[in-house]
Amino acid sequence: MTTLSIIKADTGGFVGHSAVHPEMLTAAEDGLRGAASDGLLLDGQVASCGDDISLIMTHEHGPDHEAVHAFAWNLFQETTRIAKRLGLYGAGQDLLSDAFSGNLRGLGPGYAELEFTERPSEPVLCFLADKTEPGAWNLPLYKIFADPFNTAGLVIDAKMHGGFSFEVYDLYEEKQIVFDCPEQLYDLLMYIGAPARYVVHSVRSRTLGEQAAATSTQRLSLIAGKYVGKDDPVMIVRCQSGLPAVGEVLEPFAFPYTVAGCMRGSHHAPMMPVSAGDAHPVRFDGPPRVVALGFQLRDGNLIGPRDLFDDPAFDGARAGAGAVMDYLRRHGPFEPHRLPLADLEYTTMPGLEERLSDQWLPLPHTSVPAPR
Ligand code: 13P
Ligand code: 13P
Ligand code: MG
Ligand code: MG
Repeated sequence: MTTLSIIKADTGGFVGHSAVHPEMLTAAEDGLRGAASDGLLLDGQVASCGDDISLIMTHEHGPDHEAVHAFAWNLFQETTRIAKRLGLYGAGQDLLSDAFSGNLRGLGPGYAELEFTERPSEPVLCFLADKTEPGAWNLPLYKIFADPFNTAGLVIDAKMHGGFSFEVYDLYEEKQIVFDCPEQLYDLLMYIGAPARYVVHSVRSRTLGEQAAATSTQRLSLIAGKYVGKDDPVMIVRCQSGLPAVGEVLEPFAFPYTVAGCMRGSHHAPMMPVSAGDAHPVRFDGPPRVVALGFQLRDGNLIGPRDLFDDPAFDGARAGAGAVMDYLRRHGPFEPHRLPLADLEYTTMPGLEERLSDQWLPLPHTSVPAPR
């Protein structure tokens, strides 16, 4: 069995929260090369989206493996040291604990991992996003694996007609559930239409019994008095031969749908599909970006990447994202551009409530006319 792991972290931004410094990327590449020659990994590549570094790795150890997670943790310590030396912004931002113990759960870095037997041809897409949260994959995953207006194969491919199962996490109550689609489409949508709380963690083909997608949904963990785990997410999707075609997997991103996470993690903004070279969110620290890197796997080797949104067919989505950004920005500090109070990553509300507590007075009493 082969495991494809993407482990990612923001260990410092260059400049502000907009990108990763090239020296950090070089250190990560050197680290991956070493781990492949030591035999820990079959192969590895470094990628980035905004200020997040992704380690895209293949190995034979399965998900949640201590040595693989420890390797990533140590590499992120090293990129943090570089960020500190260069005075980069938020050095070590996502490394929330001082000590590694067993695996990365709750320590800050995000990870999507998928274990499978490599098919004779194994096309996989790695999606990396910045300035959003794991629930941002809910809408495209629904379209890819459940919407026949997006994915023709659901109707016309005998191996897809049986549908897909969605594993969903409730991040607030730490519960999970599986929805079998198409029968449970409406049940599924009731939950995943609320992506701040309900997040698709994986998708499986009901006909092939194969796992087709994995996202970096970690349980929310309370660290240093703050819930973490809603970080800039990554996702893996396997394609073709009874799974959605590459074009069906990319198609949902032709619509610049709105996600949470822009500017101070506290604003809604449109998801903009971009080439790796344009994955630098700078306008109002946005709009949120998504990059799609395509690989063919061969004996665990990552053949690629192809930079799949580097395509004029997505110019319309980019222009649409620009127009939605203009529209939302004009709301300034008002919802729905600003997130609801409970979801703000930054807030002055507790201080205000305390300071103004004496000044809030009951509404004047209004008498209700007695019924005749
Ligand atoms: P497969 O059934 O071989 O995956 O082909 C589907 C396809 O790529 C058509 O676009
Ligand atoms: P990151 O989560 O990408 O570090 O962005 C933080 C932020 O608040 C940008 O405005
Ligand atoms: Mg950052
Ligand atoms: Mg980021």
